[in-house]
Amino acid sequence: MKMRKFCLLGSFCLFLATICSAASPKKIRSGEIWPDNHGVHINAHGGGMLYHDGVYYWYGENKSDTTSNAMVGIMCYSSSNLTDWKNEGVALSVVKDDENSDIVPGCIMERPKVIYNAKTSKFVMWFHLELKGKGYEAARSAVAVADCPTGPFQYIRSERINAGKLPFDMTAAQRAELDTLDADKYQEWWTPAWHEAIHKGLFVKRDLPGGQMARDMQLFVDDDGKAYHIYSSEDNLTLQIAELSEDFLSHTGKYVRVAPVGHNEAPALFKTSEGTYWMITSGCTGWAPNEARMFSAPSIWGPWTQHPNPCRGPKSEITFGGQSTYVLPMPGKKDAFIFMADIWRPKHPSDARYIWLPVQFEQGIPYVEWMDSWSLDFFDKK
Ligand code: DGJ
Repeated sequence: MKMRKFCLLGSFCLFLATICSAASPKKIRSGEIWPDNHGVHINAHGGGMLYHDGVYYWYGENKSDTTSNAMVGIMCYSSSNLTDWKNEGVALSVVKDDENSDIVPGCIMERPKVIYNAKTSKFVMWFHLELKGKGYEAARSAVAVADCPTGPFQYIRSERINAGKLPFDMTAAQRAELDTLDADKYQEWWTPAWHEAIHKGLFVKRDLPGGQMARDMQLFVDDDGKAYHIYSSEDNLTLQIAELSEDFLSHTGKYVRVAPVGHNEAPALFKTSEGTYWMITSGCTGWAPNEARMFSAPSIWGPWTQHPNPCRGPKSEITFGGQSTYVLPMPGKKDAFIFMADIWRPKHPSDARYIWLPVQFEQGIPYVEWMDSWSLDFFDKK
C-alpha cells in the first residue's frame, strides 16, 4: 500500500515537472556550456543573429581547440525559441583548394553578421577578414551572399572601405586643415599633438587611397530598409559608420567617424521605439575583458554622445568577463532587447562562452544587469 502511494506521488511529481517545463521557457545561463542538438557546445563566437520567417539564425566564428584562426569557417545554428539550437553546419567555409583565396585555412574571420535584403531576396554576410600570416594588418571587410539563410554562402571579395572618400560630414574647413597635416610630424603615438592630429583625421587621410581600415564590426538595418556597417577603423582608434548600397554588397561612400581616438571595439547597435540609436562597445584589450561603453544618437549619423558603463552587478567593470557582440531586438515586443557578449578563452578558443542578458531601461537609458539565470518570459513581466 505504502509502495502504491509512493508510486502515485512519484508520477504526480513527474507530471507536474513536465507541465512546468512545458509552460516555463528554458533558463538562459550565461557563461555555462550551451549544448546544440548534438549535445556539443555551440561554436559560433563573435556572432550575430538574423530573425527570418519565424526562425532565429545564429552566425559566428568556428573556433578550434588550439587557435582562434579560421580553420573551418563561419557556422550557422537555427532555433525557433532562442534556447534550443540546431547545428546547421558551416555557412561559409574556408577555401582549402586555392592557396590564392583570401579565406584559406589559418586566415582570421571574425564577427560575422548576416542581414536579409528584401529587394534581392539574398542573405548578405559581412565579416572582418585578416589574411593568413599577416597578423591584423590587412584590416579588411569581406562579403559573401546566399539564397538561403543557412547557406552555403558564396564568397565575393574583401576590401578596405570607401577608398578615396572623406567622411561626408567633414566641413570644408576641416578638409582644408586635414590637407595641411604632415604625417611625419606625428611619428610618436599618444602625445597631445598626435592625439589632436588623429582626432582631425590623420589616419583617415593616411588610408584614403586604399580605403579605411575595418576590424571589429556590426551590421544594422534601419526601419527604412537601409543598411549600415559599423566598424573599428583607423588602427582601432575610431569607429566609423558607413552606408551600404541597396543590394548590401558594397559601400556607397557615405560615412561618419564616431568617438575619434576613443579606442572602441565590438560595436553592437540597437534602436528604441522612440527613435534613439544606442551602441554598446568595448575598449581595446585584445582577448581580455574591459569595461563596456555606451553611446546614443538621434540619427545613425550622430551626433553620438557617450554614457556611463551600462553594466551592473558583479564584474560589471569588465562586462561580466565578456565583450559585446550583438544586441537582438525581440521580434514583436516593444523595446525588448537581448545584450549578447563573448567570454573569450584564448588558450582554448572553442571553449569560449556566451553572455546573454536582457537590456533594461531606467528613465529611458538602457542598462544590463547580471543574472545567473533568466528566461525569455522576463520580457512579458515588464
Ligand atoms: C578583440 C576583438 O574584439 C576580437 O574580435 C579579436 O579581434 C581580438 N581582439 C583579438 O585580440
